[in-house]
Amino acid sequence: MAGKTLIAPSILSADFANFGREIEAVEAQGADWIHVDVMDGHFVPNLTFGPPLCKAIRKHIKTVMDVHLMIAPVDPYIEAFADAGADYLTAHVEAGPHIHRTLQAIRGAGCKPGVALNPGTPASAVAEVLDLVGLVCVMTVNPGFGGQSYIDMTAKVAELKRMIGDRPVLIEIDGGMTPVTAPGIVAAGADVLVAGSAVFKGGSVSNPAPYGQNIRAIRASLGQ
Ligand code: DX5
Ligand code: ZN
Repeated sequence: MAGKTLIAPSILSADFANFGREIEAVEAQGADWIHVDVMDGHFVPNLTFGPPLCKAIRKHIKTVMDVHLMIAPVDPYIEAFADAGADYLTAHVEAGPHIHRTLQAIRGAGCKPGVALNPGTPASAVAEVLDLVGLVCVMTVNPGFGGQSYIDMTAKVAELKRMIGDRPVLIEIDGGMTPVTAPGIVAAGADVLVAGSAVFKGGSVSNPAPYGQNIRAIRASLGQ
């Protein structure tokens, strides 16, 4: 979908002792969504947080809570993340054999379903579920950690853009987004850019101005 590119800072790069104030600061500095990276130490080699943390931070989010599940299995936890207030709830296509069922369950729980693809997974893996989702998340790093180097997925994004056609499905890019890497992938069709380290670098809750400068630097790289 065309229009203004949305910037979704990932709180993976925020101060873990201060999520509420970090969220309020980065929203005041221009964030469009708040991206929440849930990791289970099994699907990805890192552990972060679960539904109670999501529920606790939800009251600090005025924009959109974009929950990225890097967990397997997904289905037993859908109700808990919906109850925690997720707006978008994204599951990986690689997380299990029944992504169609998972996405239906996410919609049934009242969230907008998203489907994510690892760098090694082709666009064709989501061809049969594009009518079920509000968002396709294209990973441009192997999931698990912030601050990794960008892996170019421009061709995959262009292919997804063609596959999506006129469906109301956003393409989100996750990993390694900076003012250098963003323009090419947006030109290929990206609608939402997740950015962790590139947004939070140099700032803090007591010095939030760099968050705004960093967000504006990404927008400026896009001519926006
Ligand atoms: C990676 C996460 C990303 C990550 C992005 O597994 O899904 O959301 O936080 O961080 P940066 O922008 O630092 O690559
Ligand atoms: Zn993420």
